[in-house]
Amino acid sequence: MKMKHFTRLLSLFFILITSFSLANSTIVSHDERAITINGKRRILLSGSIHYPRSTADMWPDLINKAKDGGLDAIETYVFWNAHEPKRREYDFSGNLDVVRFIKTIQDAGLYSVLRIGPYVCAEWNYGGFPVWLHNMPNMKFRTVNPSFMNEMQNFTTKIVEMMKEEKLFASQGGPIILAQIENEYGNVISSYGAEGKAYIDWCANMANSLDIGVPWLMCQQPNAPQPMLETCNGFYCDQYEPTNPSTPKMWTENWTGWFKNWGGKHPYRTAEDLAFSVARFFQTGGTFQNYYMYHGGTNFGRVAGGPYITTSYDYHAPIDEFGNLNQPKWGHLKQLHTVLKSMEKSLTYGNISRIDLGNSIKATIYTTNEGSSCFIGNVNATANALVNFKGKDYHVPAWSVSVLPDCDKEAYNTAKVNTQTSIMTEDSSKPEKLEWTWRPESAQKMILKGSGDLIAKGLVDQKDVTNDASDYLWYMTRVHLDKKDPLWSRNMTLRVHSNAHVLHAYVNGKYVGNQFVKDGKFDYRFEKKVNHLVHGTNHISLLSVSVGLQNYGAFFESSPTGINGPVSLVGYKGEETIEKDLSQHQWDYKIGLNGYNNKLFSTKSVGHIKWANEKFPTGRMLTWYKAKFKAPLGKEPVIVDFNGLGKGEAWINGQSIGRYWPSFNSSDDGCKDECDYRGEYGSDKCAFMCGEPTQRWYHVPRSFLNASGHNTITLFEEMGGNPSMVNFKTVVVGTVCARAHEHNKVELSCHNRPISAVKFASFGNPVGHCGTFAVGTCQGDKDAVKTVAKECVGKLNCTINVSSDTFGSTLDCGDSPKKLAVELEC
Ligand code: GAL
Repeated sequence: MKMKHFTRLLSLFFILITSFSLANSTIVSHDERAITINGKRRILLSGSIHYPRSTADMWPDLINKAKDGGLDAIETYVFWNAHEPKRREYDFSGNLDVVRFIKTIQDAGLYSVLRIGPYVCAEWNYGGFPVWLHNMPNMKFRTVNPSFMNEMQNFTTKIVEMMKEEKLFASQGGPIILAQIENEYGNVISSYGAEGKAYIDWCANMANSLDIGVPWLMCQQPNAPQPMLETCNGFYCDQYEPTNPSTPKMWTENWTGWFKNWGGKHPYRTAEDLAFSVARFFQTGGTFQNYYMYHGGTNFGRVAGGPYITTSYDYHAPIDEFGNLNQPKWGHLKQLHTVLKSMEKSLTYGNISRIDLGNSIKATIYTTNEGSSCFIGNVNATANALVNFKGKDYHVPAWSVSVLPDCDKEAYNTAKVNTQTSIMTEDSSKPEKLEWTWRPESAQKMILKGSGDLIAKGLVDQKDVTNDASDYLWYMTRVHLDKKDPLWSRNMTLRVHSNAHVLHAYVNGKYVGNQFVKDGKFDYRFEKKVNHLVHGTNHISLLSVSVGLQNYGAFFESSPTGINGPVSLVGYKGEETIEKDLSQHQWDYKIGLNGYNNKLFSTKSVGHIKWANEKFPTGRMLTWYKAKFKAPLGKEPVIVDFNGLGKGEAWINGQSIGRYWPSFNSSDDGCKDECDYRGEYGSDKCAFMCGEPTQRWYHVPRSFLNASGHNTITLFEEMGGNPSMVNFKTVVVGTVCARAHEHNKVELSCHNRPISAVKFASFGNPVGHCGTFAVGTCQGDKDAVKTVAKECVGKLNCTINVSSDTFGSTLDCGDSPKKLAVELEC
């Protein structure tokens, strides 16, 4: 072949290759108005699902439910400390298989948003930083520190390379349309002085150099270095405008509820308010909106951040902790998504005009040459409105947005919920009585002799010593008191200035007491009477327990943990106080639990370790318990009831389901009977479950269980409890309620089970709430209970037309809008 021909052929070949790969790739870019995909402006609806907060077998179902709920994309953080538990030793197995997670999103036909961080906050232990990183020499986080930057770059590059290798970026034909570097650094940048700006510039350059072919985000980062896209996080982002006019309006975290602390109440954000925030965002020109969280899930093991983030990370998200739909939230948003999508073209290409209708009511009109779409938003927190818009009257309730895809007919109003409420409950089966065996944590050496495996002069910070390999660190010292010591008095105490999340104190082998934090102040003084000090050597043993390392704030990595002192013995003699400071003594340290080191939780239990089945103790501290159990049959999510237990950690067949602390009740006040969706939401608003155990039920993923029936539960009980009430259940829909507005269709379902009975139904002006519904002053002249029963009982789902055609004439009701209230039993 002639050379000329050959080169021609070669270039043809290259053209073919490039056009082939171009055809496969998705071009993600942006202009001032929107994110564009392959040149088309989009509105993008996304939701956060964190892969390690569920198990890999749950991912397809969660992602499909998100897709069915009308989402285009799934967002996740990447969790550095989980993936690199030891420096340069990586773990991407099981529920840490982030590549598999992204591929599952791709298989479902959704996009994905990868927030690498690698600082993530996320109520995740230490905000996602490995503790070994903190313990490296000359280390300072999130600033221009060479060691930090080197490690951060190493991990970020590793993740990017893994994604590239699997062709997961949109530019390679994969699902990842956006990536994030850092997280909310703008909130803390001022604390870092000039270095803060230098650091964020470095982050931008570093990210950029990784050449991923899709835009990078920086959330809560006004004036983000170009070409990083700044975004907003919060309960509302309608008022937000990007500082850079060529950056489109994006919302990376719309908080669907809130996280929970030990001792805290159960957060609750209404479907009406959440929908309102989303509709407002798109009314005011938003292009990308992500629910944080769409599925919150579970903090298995010791991944919960803190201090004091609970094991449940339910977040009151549209999909609940166990993977069930949280109704009406999920369904009410789904309807909104459908309506918004139908307006995509006018929202992203239309000319915008606004009309102020007075009294905090504003209409926005998006017009293209094909037609227009409108919003009427009423931001007034109390006053409903009847407004005249384009010659027609519209009723717009307080704190709501009406969406009119054709600027004429109201297709959706954020305050008018036509989706069922599902009330979840435990199945009603008789619980299996468990046969427990037990053994003590062998702590005598620490409690009686004060000897450990490390010695230091003075007190040390807990995480500096443990590298966070365990929640537990013993601090032990001796003090010699001779007869003449001035300390001796009738009234002597042990005083510990502590940052331990929980502190247990022993003197001369005897338990003196504990302290934990009920007011959020993790810097406190413990002081307890000790009347058993002896002449001669006295042993002081303090057990410091961490309950999730801090995950937020400037310099949070160096906030103290453990017992930083001073530790002293105090004698009170009349007016005089004599304090003997022990802080500078020699201290012995012992990291972790012996039972943990001996893998007492493992199914491959070591033969020579004996478990007792007699003298079963209750209320005993530092005790291991073990029992066999049968897994509940079926596919419904499994939960375990820890009512009666104190505090500790639990394992199912060797896998940790997290810390438990059911004995910690939330405070009695701060819950109201009524929850008004109107007015600004904050994490305390509408909270419920005051005065109850912070978390009584714990998720046992199906994949942790052996279907064969032979399962083992192991508990480490730190504070003392009674396991005899522990039992396994499934969580199912117990009751379904709906209040639907006339001329709507309401879909009713008990999820995967048949509807068994109609407890209440009335079409007219029924009163009350789910559980207390009652007939109002008027109702349709057909028997509503019978009508609904005929449509629904015995079926998996049914659809009811909410109209007089279905329920008969409602002449007594006059002109006022009619409603249907129903309550079904599952
Ligand atoms: C944000 C943060 C998230 C999460 C959230 C609260 O500030 O970026 O990671 O912590 O707050 O749930």
